[in-house]
Amino acid sequence: MSLQSIKYQRGSLEILDQLLLPVVSKYLTVRGVEDGWKVINKMQVRGAPAIAIVGCLSLAVEIYPEEFGNKKSLRQEIEGKLNYLVSARPTAVNMKISADELITLANELTKDDNVTVEDMKQRFLNATEAMLEKDIADNRAIGANGAKAILEHVAETASAAAAGPVRVLTHCNTGSLATAGYGTALGVVRHLSELGKLEHVYCTETRPYNQGARLTAYELVHEKLPATLVLDSMVAALLRVKNVAAVVVGADRVAANGDTANKIGTYQIAVVAKHHGVPFYVAAPLTSIDLQIPSGDHIIIEVRPDREMTHVGEHRIAAPGINCWNPAFDVTPASLVTGIITEHGVFKPSALKAEITKLLNL
Ligand code: MRU
Repeated sequence: MSLQSIKYQRGSLEILDQLLLPVVSKYLTVRGVEDGWKVINKMQVRGAPAIAIVGCLSLAVEIYPEEFGNKKSLRQEIEGKLNYLVSARPTAVNMKISADELITLANELTKDDNVTVEDMKQRFLNATEAMLEKDIADNRAIGANGAKAILEHVAETASAAAAGPVRVLTHCNTGSLATAGYGTALGVVRHLSELGKLEHVYCTETRPYNQGARLTAYELVHEKLPATLVLDSMVAALLRVKNVAAVVVGADRVAANGDTANKIGTYQIAVVAKHHGVPFYVAAPLTSIDLQIPSGDHIIIEVRPDREMTHVGEHRIAAPGINCWNPAFDVTPASLVTGIITEHGVFKPSALKAEITKLLNL
């Protein structure tokens, strides 16, 4: 079984159909933007970084064989189709940030008289393709930064005897399947294991779409990491009795003040972690951080079809006629977040905006 969610070479894009995992491992061909929009919207590919990469690469494979009479028509195609892809799922910000960057590039190249239409197309393809490698490199840095922060925290708070390998809890799926590879929060878990410092990882089922039970558990078994699946309703009991050193989750959008939108259920885990004095980390590349919005109040939360709650596969489990509310994400207030683990370091939510502004020279 493969853990590579995205297979790309110039002119060809395939994604691992995550609706079928872990039972069936099947790749789908994405021929262009329409296919890209559909596989993102139906969650055949999911996870904030993977959504952005597949969205942008779906435009790359569409544009690759096309001929453009002039730069203006290429620019219009890039802008219109990227903005369309942003609409496939509203909460994760990565697709929007990547779209804005690529549209800015297209605008600059359109204005530059030394750039031909063919050069412009090549530069656009290069920029989209670079996202794959950059994401893996960022995730590796997040893994290293996060593992260090968790181990330092344990060393500061535990007795020397207790500061051995750690137990951590994660939620949803943030691994190879949600990214170009290695993963964000799951990258931290992987790095702890590489250091010989992972005693155990607990992963939640993550109802209703079961990313934890289907995808994270699949990755952990595949990697032979010491792991146990728990139901979402078991987190308080788990933190009470299992000596968990840290919670580490991913993010779909982090606001400028550190409020974090992530998979539904994240907020209640953060509340429970606070109650038990367990540090709660958010692992997120800069492409998940939205400095344009001051707080989580501005994040649009995607509400998904009732069927995800009422059925397991084809089997109805909920009483017919009951009303459902199915928000796919929630917002964890910054006050519950110990640190935001990025590829550039771990920041307190209160320092996030200043640190990122400095890094990006804004
Ligand atoms: O609805 P999903 O499966 O796309 O939600 C995924 C998450 O919430 C992840 O935690 C987040 O996208 C980070 S993935 C590195």
